Amino acid sequence: MTQLSAAQRTPDSGKALYGGKGTRRITVRDITAAKDRGEKWPMLTAYDAMTASVFDEAGIPVMLVGDSAGNCHLGYESTVPVTLDEMTMLSAAVVRGTSRALIVGDLPFGSYQEGPVHALRSATRLVKEAGVGAVKLEGGERSHRQIELLVESGIPVMAHIGLTPQSVNAMGYRVQGRGEEAAQQLLRDAKAVQDAGAFAVVLELVPAELAAEVTRVLHIPTVGIGAGAETDAQVLVWTDMLGLTGGKMPRFVKQYANLRSVMGDAAKAFAEDVVGGTFPQEEHSVH
Ligand code: KIV
Repeated sequence: MTQLSAAQRTPDSGKALYGGKGTRRITVRDITAAKDRGEKWPMLTAYDAMTASVFDEAGIPVMLVGDSAGNCHLGYESTVPVTLDEMTMLSAAVVRGTSRALIVGDLPFGSYQEGPVHALRSATRLVKEAGVGAVKLEGGERSHRQIELLVESGIPVMAHIGLTPQSVNAMGYRVQGRGEEAAQQLLRDAKAVQDAGAFAVVLELVPAELAAEVTRVLHIPTVGIGAGAETDAQVLVWTDMLGLTGGKMPRFVKQYANLRSVMGDAAKAFAEDVVGGTFPQEEHSVH
């Protein structure tokens, strides 16, 4: 039998999530199978169709329409003000811009805290109106009833524990799970979301050793951000990863490009051409 190269292995052939051009969208079943094979995978945030199409073509298998859109796309100071209408609109754009990635839509603050029925109503909008394949919500033990009802209703859920930015007013932006008691609580949270039926769990800003333990104990994949190297997957906010976000970056961000200077230089070059009368030229004109 012909062996497939890494680049040819696709979820369609039951193989790697990253590294091939599958002919159908990735599903949560593919994600579960990747954990069984011990395979690591990348996830990026996306908030618009064009950026999402670039990541889709690059083979990123899972994209999160995160409520980090609040800070990184919509100009808010945190994720707290983001609305369900905004998340629905951004998620629909990302779905339209992609054909292969699994798109996970974030439930924003205030769209699921009232209880399971509230969560179901909100998640249903992301699934029906935006077309996402899964939703994400924050909280461990405190969100397990919401997760249970969504999963029972046929909506796959990615959970999110550790630092949960929607609770910034209560917890600040601090490393979570430090110390024995906090570590035990994080383990309880991780097990609670798995037992409730979540297909994956984001671990944000927790010590690497604790994230490694959670990854060993759970049978669902862990997706780390600031959680060390041992999680099953890694996620970064795309504007951080590509150097578009201004200001100081958290230590866990690796910057793979500097779009802020590329775009700024291009904007200045355009402005100078216009002011100096060197744009447009004959080839940019119609007669
Ligand atoms: O909203 C978001 O982008 C997130 C990631 C940081 C996991 O929740």
